[in-house]
Amino acid sequence: MQDLQQLKQQALNEIRNANSTSTVEQIRIKFLGRKSGLVTKIIQTLPSLSVDQKKRLGPLANQVKHNINQALNNKIIALKSPDHQTGEFFDTTLPGIRPEIGHLHPITLVSREVEEIFKSMGFQVHEGNELTDLHYNFLALNFPKDHPAMDSYDTFFIENKEKDIKLENKRVMRAHTSNMQVKIMESKKPPLRVIVPGRCFRNESTDASHEHTFYQCEGFIVDEKISVANLIYTLKEFLKAYFKKDEVKVRLRPGYFPFVEPGFELDFECMICGGKGCPVCKQTGWVELIPCGMIQQNVFKSAGYPKNKYTGFAFGMGLTRLAMMKYGITDIRLFMSGDLRFNNQF
Ligand code: DAH
Repeated sequence: MQDLQQLKQQALNEIRNANSTSTVEQIRIKFLGRKSGLVTKIIQTLPSLSVDQKKRLGPLANQVKHNINQALNNKIIALKSPDHQTGEFFDTTLPGIRPEIGHLHPITLVSREVEEIFKSMGFQVHEGNELTDLHYNFLALNFPKDHPAMDSYDTFFIENKEKDIKLENKRVMRAHTSNMQVKIMESKKPPLRVIVPGRCFRNESTDASHEHTFYQCEGFIVDEKISVANLIYTLKEFLKAYFKKDEVKVRLRPGYFPFVEPGFELDFECMICGGKGCPVCKQTGWVELIPCGMIQQNVFKSAGYPKNKYTGFAFGMGLTRLAMMKYGITDIRLFMSGDLRFNNQF
């Protein structure tokens, strides 16, 4: 009985692999040939067996013969079909190939979520230039020439072949997404509500919390009567939506950024521990998250807007930081590692 089962398997395999009708005929002879077919030979031993053995072996032998015959006939039909003639034979008996399912990078997930929240508040999403110049990255943002504040941004300069290039035209990889503020203002008149999520670069040595490439999301509103109250309201609404809370406590501390006046650091009460103190808020109960402020009039001047006509606020949050908080990621280097064991978790 075992021999019969094995022969059947072997025959079906050979039939599956056959690619011409003559091969199929050879297989027919090999297994079912009238004189020396492998299955035929077993059937020929039936008369010499006991009644009991005949009862068990007989039906199985017939079944095997029938199965092989059927597979042979099906194969002949398949080989003669037009599909096979054109090389497009589709063998429905082959096992399927499990498709590999991709994963979105956690930064992509967070960026999309942040975009959705701001879009629901009427913001437009802009992409930005990663390669920019000193003008847009700093000078148009009210950084005075040769001011030490620029040094703190550890900017990557792009080698320049042109002689006597002006300071403002020196090309750099953007050190922050604020580089898009003036560029966007130049091409659009207020009222403006814009966010710019994107990659930024700084010449920093890397460790668990520093990376040369990271993501920020810049945002700004420009109109005629924008106040600090609008800034606080907008950022609170964002935080509530992002962390899915009904209420969120924030506080503003003074912060210095040349392109905002007054400038702030917006902290919010740690949502992980409810303000009691935990590793995420470094036991302080507060998380420093969003530098922001009221846009300096000199920035509007760079954009060519009339003097003292508009007011606005701006903020720049770290998307990488938001992703670390959301997913409890403690080493920033994982984001750029390309390690699939990391990426596949999202
Ligand atoms: N661009 C600043 C940085 O990367 C962050 C920032 C601060 C952006 C204040 C702003 C702002 O729009 O108003 O350090």
